[in-house]
Amino acid sequence: MKIGVLTGGGDCPGLNAALRGVVYRAHTHGHQTIGFLDGWKGVRDGLSRPLTLAEMVGVTGTGGTILGSSRTNPFQKPEDVVKVEASLISAGVDALVAIGGDDTLSAALALHHRGGKVVGVPKTMDNDVNGTDWTFGFDSAASVAMEAAERLRDTARSHHRAIVLEVMGRHAGWVALATGLASGADFTLLPEEPYDETRLFAHVQRAVEARGYALIVTSEGIEVDAEKPSAGARDEFGHELLRERGVGAFLAKRIEVGTGVEARSAQIGHIQRGGPPTLFDRLLSLRLGAQAVDLVLEGRFGQVAVLRGEQVTGIPLEEALKSPKIVNSSWLDLLHTFDA
Ligand code: F6P
Repeated sequence: MKIGVLTGGGDCPGLNAALRGVVYRAHTHGHQTIGFLDGWKGVRDGLSRPLTLAEMVGVTGTGGTILGSSRTNPFQKPEDVVKVEASLISAGVDALVAIGGDDTLSAALALHHRGGKVVGVPKTMDNDVNGTDWTFGFDSAASVAMEAAERLRDTARSHHRAIVLEVMGRHAGWVALATGLASGADFTLLPEEPYDETRLFAHVQRAVEARGYALIVTSEGIEVDAEKPSAGARDEFGHELLRERGVGAFLAKRIEVGTGVEARSAQIGHIQRGGPPTLFDRLLSLRLGAQAVDLVLEGRFGQVAVLRGEQVTGIPLEEALKSPKIVNSSWLDLLHTFDA
């Protein structure tokens, strides 16, 4: 068998470890692997290369993706769909493993509906894919954001300021939640909760009175109010480029005006997406990459490899894609336990 693999959408730590899982598991069963370059773009444009075991040595701990990535949507134009199918045939691919978030996986599902032999591996620093306990990339990204928050705490303390850290995560608040909890932030704003400026100001004032500074973490995806800037720009899948709205800077200004406390903001941005994966993400990536090949070998096309408790298994792509996984009430309860 020749198994094709691609990495699509926003990169995150763990992609190379997932590729290693795919290549080694395929090799163990006597199958070849080829990698398509830059996500669905490489499939559409017929850009691929063989992946060898030799190339997979030492990639487990590396960031980014050795195959490159893009946010190309191959189902945007009918002529591209034809190109994708022709390219898979001409590359002699028997099955395709698509490693990506909801956009990449929704293209995989569309291909499956057209009879394509495809399975998925969920990845995203946003941790917003349904049906899997965690996605790889999240632990690494949130760990970097946690460290950033702790560095900001130092400087906020020195200057008796309020500092707002804006983290990524799109419309799910997992990264902000983890960062806020792990760094002991005074207030954490998530897209899952309505913006409450009175509470924000009260927390800032209380923290400044108690300790002389305040640390605030916000998700890029919060909805503020009509005054909030809008990015306007969208990617090929129609998503607004949220970081361009600059909600962190907006909040810092509101805090200064509303509380009189000097405020600054920092947007960590793509720093969260680079660097080596954490131990957790390395193990999860290796397991899901290998599991994807098992799904192919079992003929379970249209499925996606997921983590359920201690086990890796497969579920239908439809289930993973039915709606983004957002922060649930038990996590919100934990977050608010530390409001006092
Ligand atoms: O989906 C991952 C993510 O990092 C989001 O958290 C963020 O909104 C988006 O990608 C940024 O995308 P880009 O790399 O295209 O700017």
